[in-house]
Amino acid sequence: MALDRFGRRIHYLRISLTDHCNLRCLYCMPEDMTFRPNADLMQDDEILLLTRLFANLGFDKIRLTGGEPTARAHVVELVRGITHTPGVRSVSMTTNGVLLSRLAKPFAEAGLQRVNISIDTLNPAKFRRLTRWGDMEDVWDGILAAEEAGLTPVKLNAVVVKSYNEEDVLDLARLTLEHPWQVRFIEMMPFAGATELQTKQMVSAAQIQARVEAAFGALEAANSGKLDGEARIFHIPGAQGDIGFISSVSAPFCATCTRARLTADGMLRMCLLREHEIDLLKPLRAGATRDDLRTMILDAVWNKPWGHGLVEGVIATNRVMSQIGG
Ligand code: 5AD
Ligand code: SF4
Repeated sequence: MALDRFGRRIHYLRISLTDHCNLRCLYCMPEDMTFRPNADLMQDDEILLLTRLFANLGFDKIRLTGGEPTARAHVVELVRGITHTPGVRSVSMTTNGVLLSRLAKPFAEAGLQRVNISIDTLNPAKFRRLTRWGDMEDVWDGILAAEEAGLTPVKLNAVVVKSYNEEDVLDLARLTLEHPWQVRFIEMMPFAGATELQTKQMVSAAQIQARVEAAFGALEAANSGKLDGEARIFHIPGAQGDIGFISSVSAPFCATCTRARLTADGMLRMCLLREHEIDLLKPLRAGATRDDLRTMILDAVWNKPWGHGLVEGVIATNRVMSQIGG
């Protein structure tokens, strides 16, 4: 079991499969983004070896992220290897959904349990403006394919950006009336790459909730008012699905954080919003033993920062979002 010095049991590992992406969301990366060469990224066998080590230390919940995880070669085989690692109880994925219409079924067959799909607006023109390259219809098809394949409950993530998709939260919220989906609105967080937009055009969860309630009436608390992961969950009375609010900036959930992150280049990052990282890949390639790596992981977990420093104005600028893994 991996405990940190504040007594939090850290058992949730988010593994970034690649920093590459087939979109260029403007709150995430610049359009001319350069990616790491493949040789710098963890290879399949390295990912599986590290997964086994983490699972051995009690990490039972895994989320695969990117960049865009589906952009990785042989991703279905990799998913199968991860879901079949002893000790791993749940494996889910955060994806932009662009390739899901063809991958949802193979993923489900490989043991993937759920997906979170990013969709910031249902308006195709605005979707293109926010993602620079994306077609909303591809993602919509991906959502339906995920549901069909049983990657449920389907969760949709929308980052809300002032003057881009503030009004679109209503159409997204409306989806929950007819679909058993969880639509989650996310406060935009600041990183490198687009810091100016991220800080100036952030919309708070309270503002988003007020807008939704102005249109649909007071929301009812769901999940007995408890956090579901990082989201506070509500529903529109009578709706089939839920609405979540993720207020990472205005009301951090650090006290209950159980996460660690492994970047695609093999760095263990104990807080999304802190720069500190521990290189696992270099020692692994230099011949470190399993015990050496185990000790490095346990040390890193023990020293997990209490929380992020956004309220004090501390912004982690050593990586853009897609290089960390969301
Ligand atoms: N702030 C909040 N969420 C972000 N994402 C990407 N960049 C940011 C940011 N600056 C989201 C994506 C996706 C997930 C991987 O992270 O929209 O839902
Ligand atoms: Fe790609 Fe996700 Fe970043 Fe958009 S937010 S550019 S989909 S990694």
